[in-house]
Order: sequence, then structure tokens, then C-alpha cells
Amino acid sequence: MKRRNFILLFFLLSCVLIIISQCKEEEERVDVRGETYIGMHSCRSCHQGIVDDYLQNAHFNTSKTLTTGEDIDSLGVEDGDFIFNEHTKVGIEKTPGGLYQTAYIRGENVKSEKADIVFGSGKTAYTLAYWYGNKLMQMPLNFLVKEHLWVNSPGFPSDQIYFGRAIVSRCLECHGSYVKTNLIPQSNMTVEEEFVKNSLMAGVDCERCHGPAAEHVSFHQQNPELKEGKKLVGYRQLSKEQRMDMCGICHSGASLQVTNSTFFVKPGDTVKTLPEFADYVGGNIDVHGKQKQLIEASKCYQMSKMDCNTCHSVHQKESPSLVAHAKQCISCHQEVKHSSLNNMQASTVNTNCVDCHMPIQTSDDIGFQKSNSKEKIPYQVRTHKIAVY
Ligand code: HEC
Ligand code: HEC
Ligand code: HEC
Ligand code: HEC
Ligand code: HEC
Ligand code: HEC
Ligand code: HEC
Repeated sequence: MKRRNFILLFFLLSCVLIIISQCKEEEERVDVRGETYIGMHSCRSCHQGIVDDYLQNAHFNTSKTLTTGEDIDSLGVEDGDFIFNEHTKVGIEKTPGGLYQTAYIRGENVKSEKADIVFGSGKTAYTLAYWYGNKLMQMPLNFLVKEHLWVNSPGFPSDQIYFGRAIVSRCLECHGSYVKTNLIPQSNMTVEEEFVKNSLMAGVDCERCHGPAAEHVSFHQQNPELKEGKKLVGYRQLSKEQRMDMCGICHSGASLQVTNSTFFVKPGDTVKTLPEFADYVGGNIDVHGKQKQLIEASKCYQMSKMDCNTCHSVHQKESPSLVAHAKQCISCHQEVKHSSLNNMQASTVNTNCVDCHMPIQTSDDIGFQKSNSKEKIPYQVRTHKIAVY
């Protein structure tokens, strides 16, 4: 009798413990990056304005998981065909169940995949990816937003449909907040990456640029009267080099390789303190986004206190207009004599410094092949080397 009571009591106690522990888990959503991280949802109670703006910023939207019909509608893409040749095409179909790319050879459906993740905020282009086991694979076609056109993904063969390129963790280091990666040894002595699917955090979140903030949050929750930020390294405390490197981990070009991932870089770290930041020797990652090197090569940067934040505010919804950028230039250049310009050109001088001194250039590395054509749409980027052209 006594023994039975004891067992019953033990059983009841265990139930209570399990329930309590589950409630606790509900309460403190654990961040996959570890307990020093806390996640963007917890910033809003004290930084509402910044969070609301940032939800529309290109960094936050630079990768997304596509789960609902609304996610897919928000891309603004339509059904279509991409013709490789008379026998071979890719069809794009938007259904209530998802966005599909399907390979047709002589009219027969030979492979069809549903997009699970999109890369790109929609400023210039979308790259789509699908899960293949624990690998993320790139889909054959990209979408160009301004041209409103499906194109062959850059670097892919121009005469056949290609489903075989893996999205590596390096893409997510610049276009996401975290993914846990396992290296799987292959029989040919190489290693291949596999992701832990539910560890993927799409979009660049606050703690990518501000470092782990769990302590900051709990400190300010306990000290609500304090108006000065604590337990976190602010950008004002950083040197110019340290500020540049916080942007530079993602804006130094994809050809740079790091042996350790950059997911845990935090303010105060510099590219030099990273174990390895050497030339990329691996697969064919497209070259884009070298703003750091280009700004550093400019006299404006070398002879002033300028850094990226002189001209960009990374929390804002919209990037500044060219006129707003001109005002930034004028704040340092009040008295420029443009003696070589004719009247027509001189009339634009005060409103558009950028098109003359940071002209749009065409990338040699990337071009987008059009459907049923050998023609390529060039990839155009504005140079960040400020100079007289
Ligand atoms: C309980 C309130 C609270 C929460 C939650 C909170 N902060 Fe803060 N934070 C503050 C206060 C107060 C300041 C100082 C005033 C200011 O700059 O807004 C501050 C300042 C900052 C600063 C500037 C630091 C400096 O020295 O320049 C950063 C960056 C920051 N917070 C990031 C975050 C991030 C990221 C989150 C979410 C992970 C977050 N905060 C959540 C209260 C909070
Ligand atoms: C792409 C990098 C980046 C991301 C992402 C980012 N910040 Fe910032 N944040 C900065 C920089 C750079 C500064 C310093 C700006 C300056 O000094 O002009 C800053 C400054 C701040 C400050 C100080 C007050 C201010 O307005 O200058 C707070 C608070 C802050 N950030 C909170 C956040 C929160 C909350 C998020 C997420 C919703 C976030 N940041 C996301 C780069 C970032
Ligand atoms: C974690 C990687 C990462 C970091 C850190 C980062 N960026 Fe970016 N940034 C990106 C990516 C990726 C894009 C492309 C977004 C898209 O999909 O359109 C981007 C786009 C931009 C854009 C163009 C989009 C726009 O809103 O006009 C600017 C400007 C920019 N970054 C400035 C900065 C500055 C300044 C910093 C440092 C304070 C910084 N970034 C730090 C990854 C990063
Ligand atoms: C070193 C950081 C870095 C790496 C690695 C990287 N990107 Fe990017 N990516 C950027 C930046 C920064 C931009 C913004 C445009 C620019 O500066 O050229 C960008 C732009 C893009 C865009 C266009 C977004 C828009 O503006 O609409 C897509 C799509 C994209 N990247 C996909 C990828 C994929 C897929 C990979 C991996 C194969 C990759 N990127 C690797 C930094 C990176
Ligand atoms: C933080 C201050 C600052 C800002 C902002 C700034 N510059 Fe400069 N810039 C300088 C300094 C300092 C020099 C070198 C001395 C000089 O030529 O006046 C310079 C030099 C130049 C030169 C001559 C370059 C050469 O190689 O001879 C041009 C052109 C120029 N700036 C254009 C611009 C434009 C366009 C903008 C806006 C997009 C701009 N600057 C923003 C400080 C700045
Ligand atoms: C002197 C001002 C100035 C500085 C400093 C500056 N930028 Fe820019 N940035 C611009 C202008 C102007 C544009 C073009 C905006 C447009 O076309 O609407 C631009 C555009 C961008 C874009 C959009 C993609 C593109 O190339 O068109 C990215 C990304 C970017 N800047 C990142 C950075 C980063 C990272 C830094 C620091 C390493 C930086 N910028 C420093 C003025 C500046
Ligand atoms: C139509 C093209 C054009 C526009 C617009 C323009 N510039 Fe220039 N800029 C030039 C040329 C060309 C030179 C070479 C010197 C000359 O013309 O006398 C130059 C020279 C300069 C220099 C170097 C002058 C020196 O003393 O060495 C600076 C600084 C400069 N521009 C800044 C600006 C700023 C700031 C704006 C916007 C308010 C601007 N420019 C608008 C074409 C332009």
C-alpha cells in the first residue's frame, strides 16, 4: 500500500516537472546560436521604431523561407517558360502549393522542384533554392526584378538545364543569420556540406551587426530607468577600421574565403583578427559586393573620417535618393570648382554628384542569359571608388 502511494506521488511529480519545463521553453525561445544570443523579437519592446523600419530593409529581406502562398505572392513573379532549345525548356508554375521549376525535354516532365528559400530582397534579382535532403540546391532560373524576366542563373551552362549546384554556407554567411553545417567526408577524400535544416535563420538580423545581445536585454529589463546602452559594444566606441570591417565581412566580395564562419563576428573584431581572410580557392561563387575595397581606394576615405555609415543608415526602409546622397557629398565639399564642365552638365552639379563620380559599371563576371537567345543581360553595379572619371 505504502509503496503504491509512493509510485503515484512520483508519477504526479514527474508530470508537474515536465509541464513546468515545457512552459519555460515556451517562455524563453532558445536561439540556435547559443544562449548569449536572443533574437530580434526581443528588441522591439525597447527599440520599436528601429525594428519596424528594419523589417522592410534589404538586409532583413535578403533571404526568406517560402512557406505560405503569401510568401510566394510577395515575390511578384509570374508563370513562364524559359527555352533552352527546341527540345528543352524550364516551366515556371505558381500553384497554391508552391512555386515550381520543371524541366521538360521533348515535352516530357523530367524533373520538378518546389522553391523552399529565396535569396535577394528584390532590389535586382532573386535566386531560388530547394531542399535536397540536408542540402540546399540552386534552381536553374533566376528572376530579374526590374526587367521582370526569368533568366538562366549566372555561371550555369547555356545549353542545358542544371539543377546540380549546391548553395554553400558561405552564401548564408552574407545572406542569412545562421545555419549549422556538418562536413561529410566523401569517398574521393573531399568533404561536402550538409545543413541542419531547422537551424537555418534566414535574413540578416540585429545581432549579426551588434553581436550577441541577451545580456543587454536582461540588463535593461532589470534597469528600465537607465537611458544609456550597456552590455553591448556600440559603434561609436569603435575605430574607423573596426566599423568598416563590420560591414566588410559581407561587403568585401564573395571571392574572399574565411576558414571560420563569419556568423559570430561582433563589433570590435576586425577582418585581421579573423583566422583567415584569404583569396577564395573553392567553387565558382559569383563576384559581387566589393564596396569595402573600393571605398578604401578613394581619396575621400583616405583623407577624412568617412566610413560606410557616413552615407548609409542600415536600419532604414529605403536607401537615400541620389539627391540626398549629393547633400552628403556637399557636406564635405562646399567649394568645388568644376571649370571643365559645360553649362548643361553644370546644371546637374548640385543634385547628382554620384553619376559622375561613382558611375554605374558593368560586371565582367556576371551576365544573365535570356530565354531562347544567346544574348546576355549585363549585371550593372555602381562603383564605390569615388574619383574623377
Ligand atoms: C529592456 C529594454 C531593451 C531591450 C529589450 C533592448 N535594448 Fe538595446 N538599448 C536599450 C537602451 C535603454 C539603450 C540606450 C538608449 C538607446 O540608444 O536607445 C539601448 C541601446 C542599444 C544600442 C546602442 C548601443 C550604443 O552604445 O550605441 C544597440 C546597438 C542596441 N541597444 C541593440 C539592441 C538589440 C539588438 C536588441 C535586441 C536583441 C536590444 N537592443 C534590446 C534598451 C533595450
Ligand atoms: C547591417 C548592420 C546592422 C543591422 C542588421 C542592425 N544595425 Fe543597429 N546599428 C548599425 C550601425 C552601423 C549603427 C551605428 C550607426 C551610426 O553610428 O551612424 C547602429 C546603431 C544602432 C542603435 C543605436 C541608436 C541609433 O539609432 O544609432 C540601436 C539602438 C540599434 N542599432 C539597434 C538595432 C536593432 C534593434 C536592430 C535589428 C532590428 C539593428 N540595430 C540592426 C548596424 C546595424
Ligand atoms: C551579414 C552580412 C552583411 C553585413 C554585416 C552588412 N551587410 Fe549590407 N548587405 C548585405 C547583403 C546580402 C545585401 C544585399 C541585400 C539584398 O538582397 O538586396 C546588402 C545590401 C546593402 C546595401 C544596399 C541595400 C540598400 O538598402 O540600399 C547597403 C547600402 C548596405 N548593404 C550597407 C551596409 C553597411 C553600411 C553595413 C555595415 C554597417 C552592412 N551593409 C553590413 C549583407 C551584409
Ligand atoms: C561575401 C558576401 C556574399 C557572399 C558570399 C554571397 N553574396 Fe550575394 N550579395 C552580397 C551583397 C553585398 C549583395 C548586394 C549587391 C552587391 O553589392 O553587388 C549581394 C547580392 C545578391 C543577390 C541580388 C540581391 C538583390 O539585390 O536583389 C542575390 C540573388 C545573391 N546575392 C545571391 C547569392 C548566392 C546564391 C550566393 C552563394 C552562391 C551569394 N549571394 C554569396 C554578398 C554576398
Ligand atoms: C567625410 C567627408 C567627405 C565626404 C562625405 C565626401 N568626400 Fe570627397 N573627398 C574628401 C576629401 C578629404 C578628399 C581629398 C581632398 C580633396 O580633394 O578635397 C576628397 C576627394 C574627392 C574627389 C577627388 C578625388 C581624386 O581622386 O582626386 C572627388 C571627385 C570627390 N571627393 C567626390 C566626392 C563625392 C561625389 C562624394 C559623395 C558621393 C564625396 N566626395 C563625399 C572628403 C569627403
Ligand atoms: C560617399 C558616400 C558613400 C559611402 C562612404 C559608401 N557608399 Fe554605398 N552607396 C553610395 C551611393 C551614392 C550608392 C548608390 C545609390 C543609388 O544608386 O541609389 C550606394 C550604393 C550602395 C549599395 C547598393 C548596391 C550598389 O552597388 O548599387 C551597397 C551594397 C552599398 N552602397 C554598400 C556600401 C558599403 C558596404 C560601404 C562601406 C564599405 C559604402 N556603401 C560606403 C554612397 C556611399
Ligand atoms: C557632370 C559630371 C559631374 C558632376 C555632376 C559633378 N562633378 Fe565633380 N568633377 C567632374 C569633373 C569632370 C571633375 C574634374 C575637374 C573639373 O572639372 O574641373 C570633377 C572634380 C571634382 C572634385 C575634385 C576637384 C579638385 O579640386 O580636385 C571634387 C571634390 C568634385 N568634383 C566633387 C563633386 C561634388 C561634391 C559634386 C556634387 C555636388 C560633383 N562633383 C558633381 C564632374 C562632375
